[in-house]
Amino acid sequence: MGLLDGKRLLVTGVITDQSIAFAVARFAQEQGATVVLTGFGRLSLVERVAKRLPDPPPVIELDVTDTEQLDSLAERVRAHVDGLDGVLHSIGNAPATALGGNFLNTTWDDVSRAVHVSTYSYKALAMATLPLLAPGSAIVGLTFDATVAWPVYDWMGVAKAGLESTNRYLASYLGPKGIRVNLVSAGPLRTMAAKSIPGFEEFENTWPARAPLGWELTDHEPTAKACVALMSDLFPATTGEIIHVDGGFHATGA
Ligand SMILES: NC(=O)c1ccc[n+]([C@@H]2O[C@H](COP(=O)([O-])OP(=O)(O)OC[C@H]3O[C@@H](n4cnc5c(N)ncnc54)[C@H](O)[C@@H]3O)[C@@H](O)[C@H]2O)c1
Repeated sequence: MGLLDGKRLLVTGVITDQSIAFAVARFAQEQGATVVLTGFGRLSLVERVAKRLPDPPPVIELDVTDTEQLDSLAERVRAHVDGLDGVLHSIGNAPATALGGNFLNTTWDDVSRAVHVSTYSYKALAMATLPLLAPGSAIVGLTFDATVAWPVYDWMGVAKAGLESTNRYLASYLGPKGIRVNLVSAGPLRTMAAKSIPGFEEFENTWPARAPLGWELTDHEPTAKACVALMSDLFPATTGEIIHVDGGFHATGA
């Protein structure tokens, strides 16, 4: 018996086999789920990476800033599955000028791109998949603790604060439809998105030393397990929540 036996998931955000979404797709399949992936831009690359999953899933195109692609998403997903029980939002991006210590000089144009892709897209993806979601289904996203200001994270931190608030609003608007909406707040993991943040090494040095449980920068499994648990039937009365998978770092003050 798997945690996700009979469940159908839409997983966004795979670009390499180091993507958090890849670890979620793998663990979800191991737990019995049928998975459909979305890919952004380099579709042939995503298709190649998808072949490394236990059961290579179909890949459909989705740029979360493209209204036409969002509008046709439900229909394109229906070509593969007749509905969805879970949706993973594992998407984030900010222009280089919005990160790495340039906070005071970032233009609105660059901030708005970060917020469009990393924050508003959570609501956009939820609405695009809503026709496929029945009561009991779940939407899960990924955040990086936005309750404090971090070094170098800059406008991505502001975008994540917005994402955490969007999570609460989505939970309150979709709760009456029986749809749960939750975030996993992960510690730093070595992925393509992480490498694009100038100064990311600062997190890499402090996290493993300060987290009470320790922290492995290359172990995506704990984060993937939390995402899968939230999309399973194990959290039927939990929504608008942010579950930390960070080795306990957020609970320390030293
Ligand atoms: N790596 C970390 O340390 C860490 C920690 C906490 C939270 N997160 C979050 O996890 C999520 C996944 O990131 P990751 O670390 O696995 O990196 P990643 O680079 O593997 O994934 C980011 C994904 O966002 C996608 N994307 C970017 N712009 C898009 C667009 N316009 N439309 C659709 N997709 C788009 C990329 O194609 C990529 O697949 C992000 O929300 C990130 O902020 C990451």
